[in-house]
Amino acid sequence: MAVTDPKPRVSLEQITALAKRRGFIFASSEIYGGIGGFFDYGPLGAILKRNVKDAWWREMVELRDDVVAFDSSIIMHPSTWVASGHVGQFVDKLVDCTNCKHRFRLDHLASREQCPDCGMRGTLTEPRNFNLMMQTSVGPLEDSAARTYLRPETAQGIFVNFKNIYQSARKRPPFGVAQIGKSFRNEITPGNLTFRVREFEQAELEFFVPDDGNDVAWYERWVEARKRWYSQYGVTPERLRFYELKPAERPHYAKAGIDVEYLFPWGWGELESIAHRGTYDLDAHMALSGKDLTFFDEASKTKYTPLLIESSAGMDRTTLTMLIDAYADEVVRDAESGKETRRTVLRFHPKIAPVQVGVFPLARNKPELVAFARRLESSLRPHLRSQYDEGNVGQLYRRQDEIGTPFCVMVDYQSLGDDTVTVRDRDTMRQDRVNVEGLQSYLAARV
Ligand code: GAP
Repeated sequence: MAVTDPKPRVSLEQITALAKRRGFIFASSEIYGGIGGFFDYGPLGAILKRNVKDAWWREMVELRDDVVAFDSSIIMHPSTWVASGHVGQFVDKLVDCTNCKHRFRLDHLASREQCPDCGMRGTLTEPRNFNLMMQTSVGPLEDSAARTYLRPETAQGIFVNFKNIYQSARKRPPFGVAQIGKSFRNEITPGNLTFRVREFEQAELEFFVPDDGNDVAWYERWVEARKRWYSQYGVTPERLRFYELKPAERPHYAKAGIDVEYLFPWGWGELESIAHRGTYDLDAHMALSGKDLTFFDEASKTKYTPLLIESSAGMDRTTLTMLIDAYADEVVRDAESGKETRRTVLRFHPKIAPVQVGVFPLARNKPELVAFARRLESSLRPHLRSQYDEGNVGQLYRRQDEIGTPFCVMVDYQSLGDDTVTVRDRDTMRQDRVNVEGLQSYLAARV
């Protein structure tokens, strides 16, 4: 697909600086120098990520009657990872530089002649396999019997529980199981802020269908559903693509696969993979465990192994996408003075904006304005994500624009007389005079 907007609106450095300055994303354990591939979400980032996860959960679970919820443990029996193929095959090819000691993924190197970091020729080692699973040990003895792994994907918790789930939920294929949770991968080269990290959250849907010839139609339906989800939250269509994997690019057992990709400042990057995985996963667990994970159809008294359609989205990558996609640096003209100024604004969709409405008094040293604004903000709080703030008016608006607040409410002297306030729209910067009584419904209609 042609890149219609190759110019990034924001650099990685700009977004990293804004993320730190405004409390979206911090390097983990920064006071000790950080630890590569781990990040913390600040006060606004934590809300943004939660909103992204909630938006996924709402659409994929709450609004459907054919998907049930699940939450499995991070540490599972080590045999899980033998059956899934992760012990044997979840590897990246790794190359070391004998001069600068830096490590590279073989598939990230343009050439094997020269180290991309120190520039020396002939210093790169032969590639060797590096398993990406993080090991840990369970119990007081650190012997090999206690060794297991932090899960590299949440999906396996669903597969091994397939029978428990369908029996307890009284579901029959076609139906799905959804889970959001942490996964861990010992990435060789973490980077690009939270894009490639070693601890991250996945939102996975495992949708089981009967082998009745409708499986590909189900796969296509899920691809369409995921397209709708991204567009619903305003991700710029030109920066999003659904890349269909060629047969050689997908695992041998997969009938079809699509990578959802976003055009990041550093190029296209994967947000989600959607795949038709056949019976591969259930078959693998049945073979190793010796347990029956087929579906028994009471009506026809037959049993069969359902086919699987999977949608697996990275919540950290999606949150980063929302942050980057919302970013705009623009020149704006003041309606009254005509003066032009620059502003940075995050045009978050109101549903995922960490703060939906800011409420301020025109002057912080006027107790009646402060009391009015505080009262108003606490009346909005049960209904919207609101924030009270006070200070210089220009700075208040600048700050709220930079954290992506769609609406700002100003309490001024007129408010004291007629119970009206001004509501400023983040995107158009238009100001409406609104009656306090109708304010909540005015805002609710717009978020
Ligand atoms: N169960 C299928 C599965 O795990 P995947 O393509 O390996 O598929 C799914 O991972 C999604 O998880 C990716 O599209 C990405 O969004 C996210 N993800 C994977 N590795 C990641 C990493 N190191 N850092 C952040 N997100 C990652």
